[in-house]
Amino acid sequence: EMPGMMNDSSSSSGFVRTVSVTDLTGPRTGEPDERFTLTAEKKQVKLRSGEVIDAWTFNGQLPGPELRVKQGDLVEVTLVNKDIDEGVTLHWHGLDVPNAEDGVAGLTQDAVMPGQTFTYRFVAEQAGSYWYHSHQQSSEQVQKGLFGPLIVEPEAGRPFGEQDITVMDPTYVTLDGSETNWLNPIDRRKIEPGTPVRLRLYNTGNWPKNFSVSGAKFKVDAIDGTEVNDPGELENVRLELAAGGRYDVTFTMPSAPVYVATDPASGLLLSPNGEGDIPKIADVSAFDPLSYGSPASTPFGPNTKFNREFTMVFDNKLGFYDGKFERLFTINGKVFPDTPMLMVKEGDLVKTTFVNRSLVPHPMHLHGHHMLVLSRNGKPSAGSPWWTDTLNVALGDSYEVAFAADNPGLWMDHCHNLDHAAIGMTLHLAYE
Ligand code: C2O
Ligand code: CU
Repeated sequence: EMPGMMNDSSSSSGFVRTVSVTDLTGPRTGEPDERFTLTAEKKQVKLRSGEVIDAWTFNGQLPGPELRVKQGDLVEVTLVNKDIDEGVTLHWHGLDVPNAEDGVAGLTQDAVMPGQTFTYRFVAEQAGSYWYHSHQQSSEQVQKGLFGPLIVEPEAGRPFGEQDITVMDPTYVTLDGSETNWLNPIDRRKIEPGTPVRLRLYNTGNWPKNFSVSGAKFKVDAIDGTEVNDPGELENVRLELAAGGRYDVTFTMPSAPVYVATDPASGLLLSPNGEGDIPKIADVSAFDPLSYGSPASTPFGPNTKFNREFTMVFDNKLGFYDGKFERLFTINGKVFPDTPMLMVKEGDLVKTTFVNRSLVPHPMHLHGHHMLVLSRNGKPSAGSPWWTDTLNVALGDSYEVAFAADNPGLWMDHCHNLDHAAIGMTLHLAYE
């Protein structure tokens, strides 16, 4: 028996994750609190720039519609595939749902083919900023547009942010391979001075992305959906967001414009009158979650005895994958399906070490569980507990992370540079 695993007493501060999933499916019966239908279909979409592009969409929108629910809601989402020949699924990125609701084609379900439907049911246990995307040939399907935001508002009222604005990675690669930007031309919005603002920044692309927030002091209130304990005020700090990751940024609207952008020419300009000049972008340093906020207790401490320890070394080599000669990114020298399988038992406390000796960053995403960062390059985490579902392991870096094996099933653990996942940078976590 593993006593008191996730029932850490500090849960009053709101960021200790408590998940009590005992079943592999969500509740099969019961009237849902929220019901949505997402239809995957090919559609021409008109961007802000006026450009019309061919896309693969949910409900004809790019990104797909924002699903907004309350913590504790029983959510039912019906996926309809109209005309995506390869089939589609819905994966709830970052939300720890029961295994059978996780939406991984070939692992937790079959892909939903044209004319078919599939119904997902789960209780949204954790508040925060999450997203959904197809997990069938996801490197192609996410790039073509089959994704959207999933926001779980906390049970105890709306979080800070009367103006609650989702900013999804503004760079979009069109079907013909050219890059375009949602926020081009600049999206201008009018916000009264004094208004509490929450920006939910998402990186839905394959590479780390720098967001800058200019013109206001701000806080990073949540990382990958989990609240930061005691976040400090930041200014002129660049936010490098992992591929697949999310930061919630909060501030009080000043009387001059605030500009949020990944590149100076396309962004979101908030101002008291909806007009005004772009404030100067003056990022002088990079945000580092390793030392941000104040420490608080977690299920893991310096004396934790881990039941399992795994090491994943990322490297690269030239080789064949699916009959094509490529630069492959390997885990312990192997590509899927030869990568190791991580075996755990329910109740285990697990430590994983990531070491990146390859050429590029790898954003590691574990399904169904949240990882607590213990250290980077031997330096222990010194700020707020840093819970993540998608951790950017930069070139040359090593990280130690911990998670509790509290959600039985068969799970993906993969690089969220989805092009890397597609050439084998993936493995499975299994419960014995
Ligand atoms: Cu967001 Cu396995 O993916
Ligand atoms: Cu990678």
